Amino acid sequence: MTDRINELIAEVEAFSSRAAAEIEEFRIRTLGKKGTVTNLMEEFKTVAPEMKRALGQRLNELKTKAQQKINDLKASAEAAGPRSESIGDATRPGAGSAEPVGSRHPISLVRNEIVAIFDRMGYTVADGPEIEDDHHVFTALNFAPEHPARDMQDTFFIEKNPDVLLRTHTSSIQVRVMEGGKPPIRVICPGRVFRNEAISYRAHCIFHQIEGLYIDEGVSFADLKQTLLHFAREMFGEDSKIRLRPSYFPFTEPSAEMDVSCNLCGGKGCPVCKGTGWLEIMGCGMVDPNVLENCGIDSKKYTGFAFGMGVERIAMLKFGVGDLRLDFENDVRFLKQFASES
Ligand code: PHE
Repeated sequence: MTDRINELIAEVEAFSSRAAAEIEEFRIRTLGKKGTVTNLMEEFKTVAPEMKRALGQRLNELKTKAQQKINDLKASAEAAGPRSESIGDATRPGAGSAEPVGSRHPISLVRNEIVAIFDRMGYTVADGPEIEDDHHVFTALNFAPEHPARDMQDTFFIEKNPDVLLRTHTSSIQVRVMEGGKPPIRVICPGRVFRNEAISYRAHCIFHQIEGLYIDEGVSFADLKQTLLHFAREMFGEDSKIRLRPSYFPFTEPSAEMDVSCNLCGGKGCPVCKGTGWLEIMGCGMVDPNVLENCGIDSKKYTGFAFGMGVERIAMLKFGVGDLRLDFENDVRFLKQFASES
């Protein structure tokens, strides 16, 4: 037993570490419940009485040394801080080595929010091709053959073939949905659209739309108005008001432009709403019976409403972005400002 005590004393004296985990392991190995020193203390109870005095002194010396060693090592490890431990703090992020985490694009954020609002009202999302034909973008939607929107100035045609073009609105998806299914129809159609326009702070040749379509028996203009009011309140706040101004679209009759009360000045008038207190955010109307018939839906039985809005414009209003070209430039200094949004 004396030998073992001496060996352990030597071991305790030789031990050194600055890693908290190693020091703790040493404590368990020696002074822990099943540790070497603790075992010796147990064994000591069975030692012959005449040996007890000498062995007891040596054993106490071992125990005190071990305890002292652990206390000293812990104190110096703490004083030096976690970085100087042999493995360091494994939970500490590496200096400069972490991958930068991306954030969602403001257009995606706004699109997701709009989709979520209509999803809660029971709308499903429909998709369609960006490269379209005249039928789905214009003819089925009641555009007269010489309508100026078909003009080269607005529409990008492909391969000089006037029947292959980039969609100028996502109403083309609505045509595909009507052609492919029976009422009741309740869809929203988000997507990229293309128009041959000069690029400026408020217009781009590529932008995003979300259009909606609701067709069933007995759908009225009152349903359209209430749906849009609900949307405005969800999107811009409970106190939002809407107003509908008469307008014209070939595919809706009657047609309207919808304004929402300016959420920056609360309707009092400010530079963003140009002093009017209102912001124009979408076109809407009752689906023209010709369009229903063009898409194989009985216009005597069914009525419906449609609406369409530009996502960039809503993002501008929501985030106070003054120039929509920023949405397309992928400048991380712009994009990372939206990292805190969900
Ligand atoms: N398609 C129209 C546009 O692109 C928007 C719209 C959709 C208007 C539905 C009325 C009804 O401008």
